[in-house]
Amino acid sequence: MNAVAAAENELRIRALGKRYASTQAAGGELQVLDNIDLHVPAGRFVSIVGASGCGKSTLLRLVLGLEDQYEGRITLGGQPIAGTGPERGIVFQDHRLFPWLNVEQNIAVGLRNAPLTPAEKRERVAEHVALVGLQGFEQSFPHQISGGMAQRVAIARGLVNRPRVLLLDEPFGALDALTRARLQNELQRIWQAERITMLLVTHDVEEAVFLANQVVVMQPHPGRIRRIVDVDLPHPRHRSDPRFIALRDDVLADFLEPGVLGAEQPPAPDPSSWRLAW
Ligand SMILES: Nc1ncnc2c1ncn2[C@@H]1O[C@H](COP(=O)(O)OP(=O)(O)OP(=O)(O)O)[C@@H](O)[C@H]1O
Ligand SMILES: [Mg+2]
Repeated sequence: MNAVAAAENELRIRALGKRYASTQAAGGELQVLDNIDLHVPAGRFVSIVGASGCGKSTLLRLVLGLEDQYEGRITLGGQPIAGTGPERGIVFQDHRLFPWLNVEQNIAVGLRNAPLTPAEKRERVAEHVALVGLQGFEQSFPHQISGGMAQRVAIARGLVNRPRVLLLDEPFGALDALTRARLQNELQRIWQAERITMLLVTHDVEEAVFLANQVVVMQPHPGRIRRIVDVDLPHPRHRSDPRFIALRDDVLADFLEPGVLGAEQPPAPDPSSWRLAW
């Protein structure tokens, strides 16, 4: 990546705050995010972990441009983000595919406003079908493919416009453990191939550490950054690597401390478990 592309693709979040009107909160407002500072250099993979309700999805919604009422600044390549745009793609936990469109038509939805000829669009869709390993399933409809395959379609749709940033909100949260591990490997491969800046929200600490250059640990009430952990391990990564295990356990230890899980803290988790769901 050249220096210009690097500067164009860096995401900066400065002193970000977000409040929602709430009849339950003191003062009629709920402070969801407070003073979030985050710098994601171009081509980096950043994971965000934190308790339910600490504002992770809200943060992604703001970066996506779904809301414009907030404090602070969000810039991409130095330009404040304004509304949604093709340079920011998103993948949600539920794939949100259109049931009446087949796999390639669902991916092509990501290109509906792209300034490309129909032939160029077909080519771009075919490239992304291959990128996520779905050759042979182009004509299948969502009900004819598995949950993991549907998430691959959603990832292809998020990438097909060649966004500068891909936002992922628990993209594998609804999948079984084996499919999830397979798709984590897939996402690692795709990120290595495409080098798009990625921001992943997950409840799965192992997933966060496995994929990211940096893990942002958030804490709730209001949502703040507790700490940022660098993951300086080469790719491709291996789950049995002792350095990986040590980093994963370091991040997990944060969640065993009082207060990090918020008021609705479940019974103390088993420290030997490698994954927390809350
Ligand atoms: N549109 C809204 N209006 C009012 N409150 C909202 C709105 N969206 C989110 N909230 C509140 O903001 C807080 C953060 O929500 P958010 O969905 O960002 O959390 P999260 O960290 O993504 O949680 P989870 O891990 O459960 O997905 C919650 O208390 C939620 O009730
Ligand atoms: Mg969420």
